[in-house]
Amino acid sequence: MTTIDRLVGAGVDRIDGPAKVRGTAPYAFEQDPGEPIAHLAVVQSTVNRGRISRLDATRAEAMPGVLAVLTPASAPRLAEGLSSDLPVLQSLDVHYQGQVVAAVVAETSEIAAAAIGAVVVEYAAEEPDVVLSTDRADLYAPEQLMAGFDTDSVIGDVDGALAAAAVTIDATYETPTQHNNPIEMHTSMARWDGDSLTMWDANQGPHNIVNDLAKGFGLDRGQVRIISPYVGGAFGSKAFPHPNQMLAAMAARVVGRTVVFELTRPQMFTLVGHRTPTIQRVRLGADADGRLTAISHEVVEHTSKISEFAEQTATPTRVLYAAENRRTTHRLARLDVPPPTIMRAPGETPGMFALESAMDELASALGIDPVELRIRNEPTEDPERHVPWSSRHLVECLRTGAERFGWAGRDLRPRMRTEGRWLIGTGVASATYPTRRRKAQCRISVDGRGGTAPVRYLVEIDGSDIGTGAWTALSQIAADALGVAMDAVELHIGDSRLPRAGGAGGSTGLASWGSAIVLTARDLRRRLDDEFGGQVPADGVTVDGGIEGEGPHAKTHSMHAFGAHFVEVRVDADSGEVRVPRATSVYDAGTVVNAKTGRSQFIGGFSMGVSMALHEETLTDPRLGHYVNHDLAEYHVATNADIGELDISWLDHPDELANELGLKGIGEIGITGAAAAVANAYWHATGLRVRDLPITPDKYFRELGLT
Ligand code: MOS
Repeated sequence: MTTIDRLVGAGVDRIDGPAKVRGTAPYAFEQDPGEPIAHLAVVQSTVNRGRISRLDATRAEAMPGVLAVLTPASAPRLAEGLSSDLPVLQSLDVHYQGQVVAAVVAETSEIAAAAIGAVVVEYAAEEPDVVLSTDRADLYAPEQLMAGFDTDSVIGDVDGALAAAAVTIDATYETPTQHNNPIEMHTSMARWDGDSLTMWDANQGPHNIVNDLAKGFGLDRGQVRIISPYVGGAFGSKAFPHPNQMLAAMAARVVGRTVVFELTRPQMFTLVGHRTPTIQRVRLGADADGRLTAISHEVVEHTSKISEFAEQTATPTRVLYAAENRRTTHRLARLDVPPPTIMRAPGETPGMFALESAMDELASALGIDPVELRIRNEPTEDPERHVPWSSRHLVECLRTGAERFGWAGRDLRPRMRTEGRWLIGTGVASATYPTRRRKAQCRISVDGRGGTAPVRYLVEIDGSDIGTGAWTALSQIAADALGVAMDAVELHIGDSRLPRAGGAGGSTGLASWGSAIVLTARDLRRRLDDEFGGQVPADGVTVDGGIEGEGPHAKTHSMHAFGAHFVEVRVDADSGEVRVPRATSVYDAGTVVNAKTGRSQFIGGFSMGVSMALHEETLTDPRLGHYVNHDLAEYHVATNADIGELDISWLDHPDELANELGLKGIGEIGITGAAAAVANAYWHATGLRVRDLPITPDKYFRELGLT
């Protein structure tokens, strides 16, 4: 433990660490419902589009140990009104390959897995439409983007400014389909007691899962309880319900006992969403000094036919750099794909790859240092909303990062450094992510213990720790706010019975839950002072509090976290192999509540950016429409050996206007811009500009004209 008098900011060890290391922290699959658990496995469509023409479960139903087979004909009817692919087993129509067409419930997972092979399904298949391109006639403008962003933004005369610019860049960047792959697969264990449903579930916010289950089964919200104290990682796919929760609840109802459904790794590639592929045209116009006169960022991406998901890809371009004339657009193609969803910094992650690559291309065209180019285009206010920043220290991030990395003296020209077969280069990119907060309720009780035992504070809020360190950070926040030591705080999170709060998503967790805790603690202390002379009464006190959502400054100020990444890349001139031996990232994220778990968030975000730059890509078969590389043997993610020395630091500038803690959110800022920094360093090493991620070795030979 720390000895400083303020816990917020300290690198406090995870309070859930010992339980996790010993294996005693119960994840969804390990919960004990107090009765034998039945296991669920699913039959998935082998065609991408069409209709089930025949389904015969007779053999599977007759297998010893099989408790039930659910089919579109036999499954319980769910109420109307569920969106996307939540009405599972309600129709014979098939909308994507991998859609659940039947489910087996059995005594063991092995029997369930064997029995799905005995279910006969035939289809009337239709030709799938799965290829995204910019010349499709059916591209359309969605009404709005995810998180409520406007579809387009247009300011000034972009085309005129581009035509008049001293230097222009016009380049198209592509990012592939990607899949959320936390270590723990989505898992749901369902038990019914009469008309009450309890579900132990891997998600990013228990309250977010309640609504659709209540709606589907015709229950009141209070009849559904979601319990999720420990979650083995999540990047967005666990933020909202998917077919797995509906299925577990349906199956448990049918067999009359607890049922668990744990997705397999391949099922992570069909049943819980993906990041849309993007095709992004970026045009920049600048004067000879590198001052931007025009920015245009046009995005084409996909959504599914059964629901709309419009990723907010060009939104970082609306805030990052000054320019009089600016335009961002988003167009979608409705394809025969599973519903896309959010994945760590949806929008910013693909969008910043394009924008920050284009800025590097502009720096090169102008012969200006790319750090200097960014500093020259620092806006004094939000360039599209025309409101001041709550705080913005991007320039300090760039300068501090350049210093720490040893950027000075870097040759502007590419392919100037070699070491044996290795071509060596360095690159830079900015990072940015919005700072927001959501409505959150909180309850704090202090137990006077009849004046005999040490006073304890019970802090209840439906916050969520998806591996981020929220258990610990919220305990630090509560202890500081209550003016007590951490061991006087008993935190309860991860249960929809607790006071309602938004989930872990959009980097809003600590901003929302932390603010709610601070305000409720303040209320409690005021009551103790006013009514009890500062003493805890023997029968205790309970206070309910919280926040309504965005704070008073959200409308009048533009709130964002910022950062700068500096990366060294080495490329094997013979094989095209890419290594990232070292990187420096500096963040302007306001208060970092826990220096240890916070650092891990920055490391994780940046590493996922390296993973995006060099490895991650889900390949779609254009004829059959399915995802070909649906496991971690063929969908590559960066592992320890792929990540070199990371120098992570942050500036000490709490954002006083953002929230009660002065924090700006840290879960997603690290991935934004990271892939561009790698691609820019790759260009500097090789002289080759790869504009379509990931930068795999074959593209080295493609760019050299050898394949
Ligand atoms: Mo994160 S994509 O907001 O769960």
